[in-house]
Amino acid sequence: MNTELAKNIHWVGYVDWPVRDFHGYQTKRGSSYNAYLVQGEAKTALIDTVKAPFANNLKQHVAALCPLDRIDYIVCNHAEPDHSGSLPAMVAACPNAIVVCNAKCRDALSHYYDTAAWRFQVVKEGESLDLGGRTLRFFDTVMCHWPESMVTYVLEEEILFSMDIFGQHYATSCRFDDEADLDEVMQEAKTYYANIVLPYAKPVAAAAKKLLGLKLRIVAPSHGVIWRTYFDRILQDYLRWHVSTPTRKVVIFYATMWQSTRRMAEAVAEGANESDVSVKLFDLKAVGDTELITELMDCAAFACGTPTLNQSLMPRMAAALTYARGLKPAGKKAFTFGSYGWASKGAEEAEGYLKAFGCELVAAPITCRFAPTPETLEACRSAGRLLGQAAAAIPQA
Ligand code: FEO
Repeated sequence: MNTELAKNIHWVGYVDWPVRDFHGYQTKRGSSYNAYLVQGEAKTALIDTVKAPFANNLKQHVAALCPLDRIDYIVCNHAEPDHSGSLPAMVAACPNAIVVCNAKCRDALSHYYDTAAWRFQVVKEGESLDLGGRTLRFFDTVMCHWPESMVTYVLEEEILFSMDIFGQHYATSCRFDDEADLDEVMQEAKTYYANIVLPYAKPVAAAAKKLLGLKLRIVAPSHGVIWRTYFDRILQDYLRWHVSTPTRKVVIFYATMWQSTRRMAEAVAEGANESDVSVKLFDLKAVGDTELITELMDCAAFACGTPTLNQSLMPRMAAALTYARGLKPAGKKAFTFGSYGWASKGAEEAEGYLKAFGCELVAAPITCRFAPTPETLEACRSAGRLLGQAAAAIPQA
C-alpha cells in the first residue's frame, strides 16, 4: 500500500473495515482514521492519532518510519476521540513529544484525558512550527466540526491536513483518490457531508474559502482517501451541498401499521410522478437514517407519513425526524400525512418537526380514519402534484 504523500510525509493511520455504526451514522463501507507523519530535517511531527482501540497499530506504523523517542510533536487538530483517542497512549510511548493544539482543544483534551503531565504547545491562527525544511502552519476552522477544530498545512509541499473537512467514511486499501473507485468515494463523500457536515455548512464554507487562498497540491482529510487528483470535484460538490442545492427530486418516506399510510404514500408518489422528476419512496423499515438524510439533502421536496400510535407518531418516524432535525436539510417544500384510529396526532406531530427545520409547508397534514377513502387518496395525489411541480421548477443540471 502506497502511503507516501511526499518525501518524508506518510499516512500512518488505521483502516477500520468492520465499523458499521459511527455515533448513529451507518458506515456501510467502514471508515479510516487518518494520521500522518511529517519528518523534517530537524524535527518530526505526528499529525493526529486514531481511535483508542487502534493505538498499537498507529505505534507500529509510526515506528516503521521513525523511532518513537524521535517524535518531537503530536499535533491534535480536533479533540473528538476518533482522532484523539490514542493520544494518551502516544504521549506515553513518545517521551519527547509535545502536544500541539489550540487553546480550546487543550481544554477539551483535559476533560477527556488526564493531561496533567502532558507538555503542550498552544498555537494560534496562522502560527507556524519549523521542522527543518518542513513548515507546519495552523489555521482555526471553528465548528468544522467542533469549536476547537483546526487544520495543518505543510507550506513547502502544499499539503493540507484538512481534518474532518472533505472526509469520507470509506474503508479501502487505496490511500489516494486516483487509486480508489471514484464513484464510491464521491458517494461516501456525499453521505459524509449529509450526516456530519450539513449542520456546519456555513462555517465549513467559510473555512473552505479561507483555505482556498492556500496553494493546495494535496488535501488529506482525517477519514477516507487523500485528494491529490480530483480535489476540484469534491470542492465543487461542497459548494453545491453547502446550500443544500435542490435537484429535481421528490422523496416520500413513511411508517405504516396496517398499510393505510403506505397506500397514502403511494398516492403521494403517483401525484409527484405526474411531473418529469425523480420520485423516491422509502418505507422506514427498509431504509436507515444515514441513507435517508443523504436523499433529503438534495431533494427539492418531500412528504412524510406516519400513523398515530398511542397518541403520537410512530417511534421509527420520530427517530428519523429527530435525526433529520439535527442535520437541518434546508429549503425544502413538504407536508405530512397518515392514518389514525380515534384521534389524529401522528401527522400533526410530524409536521412540528418539519417546521423546526424550516420546511415550506405546501399542505396541511392529510389524515384519514383507519383507511384512506378515494377522496383521501386523491388529496394525497393532489399534494404530491405540488411536490412534483416544485421539483420540476428546478432547472435541469
Ligand atoms: Fe472525525 Fe469530528 O471527528
